[in-house]
Amino acid sequence: MDNANILDDVFNKIINSTGIFRDRDVLRHDYLPERLPHREEQIRRLGEAVAPVLKGSRCSNIFIYGKTGTGKTAVTKYVLNSLEIRARKINAPVSFCYVNCRLAGTEYRVLSALCRSIGVSVPFTGLSSGEVFDRFRANLDGLGIIFIVALDEVDVLVKNRSDILLYEFTRINETLSRSKVSIIGISNDLRLKEFLDPRVLSSLSEEEIVFRPYDASELRDILRERAQMAFHDGVLSEGALSLCAALAAAEHGDARRALDLLRVAGEVAERK
Ligand SMILES: Nc1ncnc2c1ncn2[C@@H]1O[C@H](COP(=O)(O)OP(=O)(O)OP(=O)(O)O)[C@@H](O)[C@H]1O
Ligand SMILES: [Mg+2]
Repeated sequence: MDNANILDDVFNKIINSTGIFRDRDVLRHDYLPERLPHREEQIRRLGEAVAPVLKGSRCSNIFIYGKTGTGKTAVTKYVLNSLEIRARKINAPVSFCYVNCRLAGTEYRVLSALCRSIGVSVPFTGLSSGEVFDRFRANLDGLGIIFIVALDEVDVLVKNRSDILLYEFTRINETLSRSKVSIIGISNDLRLKEFLDPRVLSSLSEEEIVFRPYDASELRDILRERAQMAFHDGVLSEGALSLCAALAAAEHGDARRALDLLRVAGEVAERK
């Protein structure tokens, strides 16, 4: 078969297949499911921790940690999105900004993202981080709101630039008069606590929420729910689902790994 025919064959197979996937995107890492089985306790605890903002009080700073793929990002986004919807309904002056520090890459870009989220534009270069921080602080104070800063994969910030930014954040309320800030720090590096300046650690972890790894039966439930949306009825056997769950549980209870295994299994089946 010549090269063009090989690809015709490959593409036709996909186009003409009745399909294994109903919606492949449901298995993507950034898909945010409406239900998060086996994270009820963490959803409740984070919900309870942030709820005071609906009554006009600043909430505690919260430190969330647990191994990779244990649902930290999914739960945090889920809770903050629900909080925002409820705040809007009752006209509570509450806002939040979620930033993934690893994707942002630098302290400057984390600060730029925070500025953008309150409608302040920052040039790509030309200012120092300190100047951007001051701009953020001054504009935020003008808004008179309670602002939750969720810093995901915060260990990257700490490792790149020590913890100066975090230190500034834990002190920011002392210099604000009309707005208040609470921080949610998320890390999958359990040793982060050892690296942090003790003052930052104690301010940042006014509350701590731990995400433990999922076991095989929990991963099965998570996969089953996603599989219902991702695959057409009847194409996925219980055996295949259990195998993906068991392999991911044997590694370290990582739901992302389990979802990847399931997606790749579907893709391999699709090529047959
Ligand atoms: N309880 C759950 N129910 C459904 N999906 C889940 C659940 N927990 C995790 N997931 C899914 O598994 C994947 C990984 O979850 P998430 O990104 O929240 O992990 P994480 O703890 O933030 O990992 P990391 O430390 O690597 O950032 C996501 O696609 C997420 O939707
Ligand atoms: Mg995450």
